[in-house]
Amino acid sequence: MADKPMIGMVILLNAIAAGVLYQRFHDHPQVQLLESRVLEVYHKLLPPKTPDRCGALKWPSYVLISDRVVFPDGVRPGAVFVEGSKIVAVSENVTVDNPHVMNFKNAVISPGVIDVHIHLNEPGRVDWEGITNGTRAAATGGVTTVIDMPLNSDPVTTDRTQLEAKKKLARAKAFTNVGFWAGLVPGNAANHTRLEELVAGGALGFKSFMCNSGINDFPNVEAADIAAALPFLKRRGVPFFVHAEAVTKVESDPSADPARYTTYMATRPPKFEQDAIRLLVQLLDADTSPAAPGFSVHIAHLADADSLEIIRGAQSRGHPLTVETCAHYLTFSSEHIPDKQTQYKCAPPIRDATNKQMLISALASGAINLVSSDHSPAPASLKEVESGNFLRAWGGISGVQYLLPATWTALREAGVDLLGLARLLSEAPARLAGCSSRKGRVAPGYDADIVVWEPEERANTSSALNMHTHKLSPYTDVVLYGKVLVTVVGGELTSLFGMVNKKPCGQVVLGRDA
Ligand SMILES: *[C@@H]1O[C@H](CO)[C@@H](O)[C@H](O)[C@H]1NC(C)=O
Ligand SMILES: *[C@@H]1O[C@H](CO)[C@@H](O)[C@H](O)[C@H]1NC(C)=O
Ligand SMILES: *[C@@H]1O[C@H](CO)[C@@H](O)[C@H](O)[C@H]1NC(C)=O
Ligand SMILES: *[C@@H]1O[C@H](CO)[C@@H](O)[C@H](O)[C@H]1NC(C)=O
Ligand SMILES: [Zn+2]
Repeated sequence: MADKPMIGMVILLNAIAAGVLYQRFHDHPQVQLLESRVLEVYHKLLPPKTPDRCGALKWPSYVLISDRVVFPDGVRPGAVFVEGSKIVAVSENVTVDNPHVMNFKNAVISPGVIDVHIHLNEPGRVDWEGITNGTRAAATGGVTTVIDMPLNSDPVTTDRTQLEAKKKLARAKAFTNVGFWAGLVPGNAANHTRLEELVAGGALGFKSFMCNSGINDFPNVEAADIAAALPFLKRRGVPFFVHAEAVTKVESDPSADPARYTTYMATRPPKFEQDAIRLLVQLLDADTSPAAPGFSVHIAHLADADSLEIIRGAQSRGHPLTVETCAHYLTFSSEHIPDKQTQYKCAPPIRDATNKQMLISALASGAINLVSSDHSPAPASLKEVESGNFLRAWGGISGVQYLLPATWTALREAGVDLLGLARLLSEAPARLAGCSSRKGRVAPGYDADIVVWEPEERANTSSALNMHTHKLSPYTDVVLYGKVLVTVVGGELTSLFGMVNKKPCGQVVLGRDA
């Protein structure tokens, strides 16, 4: 006899997927626990056994039902009709005429999370992270689309050939949908032909660093490079993602202990973010070329809440600035980072608890547009795990699997509801990535990218369930709410209770909506 939680799962799922589970997940020990009677009943619903390929075992159509569907305008009981890779209809009538119904009862049906900032590091640095593990982790956490950064892979993505290589790898390996930002570096900033080749190849926009990126092949831009690229970015209507820190020499205490977090924090003060953002605003002031819709200067991973005042000022003068912060800035604060725990190191650094609350309020009020993970793992040796030296450790936080529960846990206390969350994690990211006419909403005609989850239940943050290539993560064993049950990617049941489909069925997201 199955144990209690398993019975709960079976009831919750209306036992639907048992047959699918049997065929697609049969090598997973948990599946053996499902009652054989349930398997028998639902086996009948399956089409004849077909080769293991994407779509092969998909029902021609099926319906997801729940008491809480996050529609674009509110949360209500509803039914979501999926055919192939699309949502074909939605209804508030939950009595449906279809043999393939999954009734999730009180669990929530939300649009799949879109993480616009992730480093998959492939090709070239799969010993850090790769498409396979990175997107499996994403799907497990309810993320259905990731947009990959142009650096940390080797080669970096600054020309068309390099972009083509990434597209090919993602088509073969991705469990979620994957799109790409291209790199804007001194070598291509002034050559609009090369930038155009990247956009024509399907890049969704560009990313630059205003400080050393840590990757030699991805040098930072200077003001002149940005000025040279701006007319192209504006005319082409693509976002310009910026790591905005203007790093200058700071007075630091040479005797400060590098194993203490505050020693690292002092090397990258808020002033660096503020100076960089001011410079970006000046460059926008100086460029009078016309801007097409889709263009924005997008401040990546804002850590300093005081910078928002500069951003608001520029926005009020009509400048298209968009802002992202990351789940780790909403979850952790510098006061609580223990010595030597370099899994917390990222740039800009995690700041204090007051700053954290200000970021959370800014998300609640709409002053910050969206939340990303900036998932960027590295091997333990680079993270200086043994020495615990914050100054030498590679910066980058591993966390795509926890983006949904960490963001929800931080924001629900500030009064953000399920609809507000969907706007910050799905709708606004889809707009930035240029796919908001097909992704980011549970609505007819949209891609069937869906997460079913229980917001009141705890996510299991045990490192044993962490799917990242490297398990080191500041989120390990942290109390987070939001348990993901099912992730549907393009109509495919990609993750069920943390078990991931054997076949990678993600799509490559190419080009922005017209
Ligand atoms: C709901 O849909 C079912 C099946 O299509 C139909 O029989 C029923 O009349 C509908 N109920 C309402 C209130 O429209
Ligand atoms: C600009 O890029 C194009 C396409 O990659 C290349 O053919 C051309 O030589 C470059 N122009 C300059 C001035 O570097
Ligand atoms: C979390 O998962 C681990 C590994 O499967 C398991 O040992 C642990 O009991 C789970 N924790 C909870 C609270 O379910
Ligand atoms: C995925 O992660 C596991 C565990 O760290 C690792 O052994 C494996 O090599 C990784 N797979 C790929 C394809 O990188
Ligand atoms: Zn990043």
